[in-house]
Amino acid sequence: MKRIDTAEELRALLAEWHPEGDRIALVPTMGNLHKGHLSLVELAKENAERVIVSVFVNPTQFAPDEDYERYPRTLDKDALRLSRAGADVLFAPAAEVIYPNGIAQATTVTVPDLSAELEGESRPGHFAGVTSVVCRLFNICHPNLAVFGQKDFQQYVILKRMVKDLHLPVQLIAGPTARDNNGLALSSRNGFLNKDQQINAAVIYQALCAVTTMLEDGDRDFTALEHSAAEQIAAAGLEPDYISVRDADDLSLPSEGSTHLVVLAAACCGTVRLIDNVVVELPV
Ligand code: PAJ
Repeated sequence: MKRIDTAEELRALLAEWHPEGDRIALVPTMGNLHKGHLSLVELAKENAERVIVSVFVNPTQFAPDEDYERYPRTLDKDALRLSRAGADVLFAPAAEVIYPNGIAQATTVTVPDLSAELEGESRPGHFAGVTSVVCRLFNICHPNLAVFGQKDFQQYVILKRMVKDLHLPVQLIAGPTARDNNGLALSSRNGFLNKDQQINAAVIYQALCAVTTMLEDGDRDFTALEHSAAEQIAAAGLEPDYISVRDADDLSLPSEGSTHLVVLAAACCGTVRLIDNVVVELPV
């Protein structure tokens, strides 16, 4: 596996790959890789001949009061895991490579409306940072396809909108959420939780599964379902932010007849903000 940190070096390698007709997959990450990230690398390998994994803790998607400084940076360990997982390239650029005009002067890419809801309501500017960095990574890496996790469901829907709207020639695919044995979705932020918190945080997935069961049983009182899930999460000592039943295609508010749903949740466990979701397919 090659470790590359400049756009020029990457472009030289792409020039070698493209004439061979190799399909290139990109897996964008912020590092501190866990099994969830590695499952995306596996999915990328199944769908492309070459796999680039980017590791870049993107400053523009963190608000000033968020955890950018303390976000775990474990590049050497990540490199080892990626080379064992069979990635071809670890692309780990510095901020100056991604934002050559500096962050304050950077061109931004924003998907309106959807970026201001749910996660966006609690984290203003977050998704503009995500779309701005992913668009740059696509322009540097020229992937045929890019792999993202269903874990960040809203992020995936927003990125699909960006790709369609800007006619970017990249196919997006989503991999399933990898979980701990107790159901807690794997996340780089779980490392900030103590043992008890890790046990309590599993309530988020339990509450999502309870809503799923009620939906499958024909319950269509979305507001009541959201409230009872929030109560379940609060009873375990977490602070729920939102629980929302949405249409899984575009995150619009569902109607009684919607069959392709997603239940999204965010809650704080101590100072750590956790998100999760479950997709629910109902019979037509
Ligand atoms: P990061 O949080 O590092 O996640 C990188 C990718 O891994 C994302 O597509 C995310 O959805 C996926 N992922 C995270 N936890 C997962 C899990 N438990 N199971 C499966 N996939 C999981 O998401 C970002 O970074 C950034 O916003 C990024 C897209 C890289 C832009 O900076």
